[in-house]
Amino acid sequence: MSKVATVEIEGKKIDLPLVVGTENEIALDITKLRGETGAITLDPGYKNTGSCESAITFLDGEKGILRYRGYSIEELAEKADFLEVAYLLIFGELPTETQLQKFNTDILDQSIVNEDMKTVLKGFPESAHPMGVLSSLTSALTAFNPKSVNVDSEEDMYKAIVKILAKFPVLAAWTLRKKNNQNLFNKDTNIGYVESLLKMMFQDDNKKNYKLNKTVVNALDKLLILHADHEQNCSTSTVRIVGSSHAGLFASISAGVSALWGPLHGGANQAVIEMLEEIKADGGDTSKFIAKAKDKDDPFRLMGFGHRVYKNFDPRAKIIKKAADEVLGQLGVEDPILEIAKGLEKAALEDQYFIDRKLYPNVDFYSGIIYRAMGIPTEMFTVMFAVGRLPGWIAQWREMRLRKEPIGRPRQVYIGETHRKFKDIANR
Ligand code: ACO
Repeated sequence: MSKVATVEIEGKKIDLPLVVGTENEIALDITKLRGETGAITLDPGYKNTGSCESAITFLDGEKGILRYRGYSIEELAEKADFLEVAYLLIFGELPTETQLQKFNTDILDQSIVNEDMKTVLKGFPESAHPMGVLSSLTSALTAFNPKSVNVDSEEDMYKAIVKILAKFPVLAAWTLRKKNNQNLFNKDTNIGYVESLLKMMFQDDNKKNYKLNKTVVNALDKLLILHADHEQNCSTSTVRIVGSSHAGLFASISAGVSALWGPLHGGANQAVIEMLEEIKADGGDTSKFIAKAKDKDDPFRLMGFGHRVYKNFDPRAKIIKKAADEVLGQLGVEDPILEIAKGLEKAALEDQYFIDRKLYPNVDFYSGIIYRAMGIPTEMFTVMFAVGRLPGWIAQWREMRLRKEPIGRPRQVYIGETHRKFKDIANR
């Protein structure tokens, strides 16, 4: 017999079905609540609201578990490469060798970005933040690919997916080159996805002077995998909700980039480094900053700490902390802010305020230190995150369209003025 929960509102009782996921997560299905009782639910920030059923990513915030399509993040980060993970997230299964090779070739074939996009880029001042530029360029791509995707055709869908996977890293690299006033290149077609991203970012204007370093390539590949999906977070929910109006894939991804930019979400990786720099410049006293973070009258928060769903260690942070030590060691980089970060983490984890609220380092706490060791400028950290998150956004958009989900349109409880009469301007 299917499970139900009985809800009583102002004397009226109704049975609401309980939905149970494959990992035994329980949800109350409220679709008939308003129709039968007139009431809606209220949940600011959607802290308790499931917006969809999804088969892409599972996470258990209490146990610190994260899996893409059933595979643990620890295993994927160690054994897979980024394109393999992208394929897995989007299409549901790990690719065979032939499938992966075809995927890679199809992406390479689509990697040339229309020359007119350079004119769009030229319009931005040098002061523009790379995330604002990336969001605008992604949106501008729609101008050069105006036909909307026929989601009922797997072939059309595949073509659109490959196109955005191909062009997005080129745009990401261009945001940096624009900042540095450098020439803009297209993708190097005979090297890997991550390798070509690094080359497009760092080679000089004569296409020379950038030697790929295996440690850097492997570390970036791992970081991109760790960022590739995280179920219904702020930017992914944005992608799904924009896509639910049947706006195209590129427009939905562009909205996701904007949502990711904020310091409470993906922008935290930049904010962490800025915070660690501030602590260093202030003499390195972490206890002063822990006290500031605890002070409710002080807007300061410990960036890179806390998470909406992880109430235990963020499993991605564990992998990244270990990688930070390895990568800095292999590259021979000594960064004093790594020690500050470790000291801050230790102090916070021993502090009752952070213990009571179950606040742990999140994915962004150590990632910036690795990006910095690779020579990636701070303002580009969130752009790197966006490149990593792209497969997740695509997978979630595709799932939403294939499941023919309705347009996303929450309700509200109105708390404004009740009806009142208009007053002429002379009588106000
Ligand atoms: N520093 C100090 N206190 C914190 C922090 C922090 N970083 N994070 C949460 N708290 C406190 C809150 O003040 C609140 O305390 P209270 O119960 O006494 O009022 C309590 O912990 C719960 O925090 P909320 O803000 O209600 O939690 P929410 O789930 O809404 O926010 C968020 C989660 C946005 C991640 C928050 O922890 C935060 O701002 N962290 C810093 C920014 C950050 O690192 N963001 C990246 C997240 S990972 C990602 O998006 C990729």
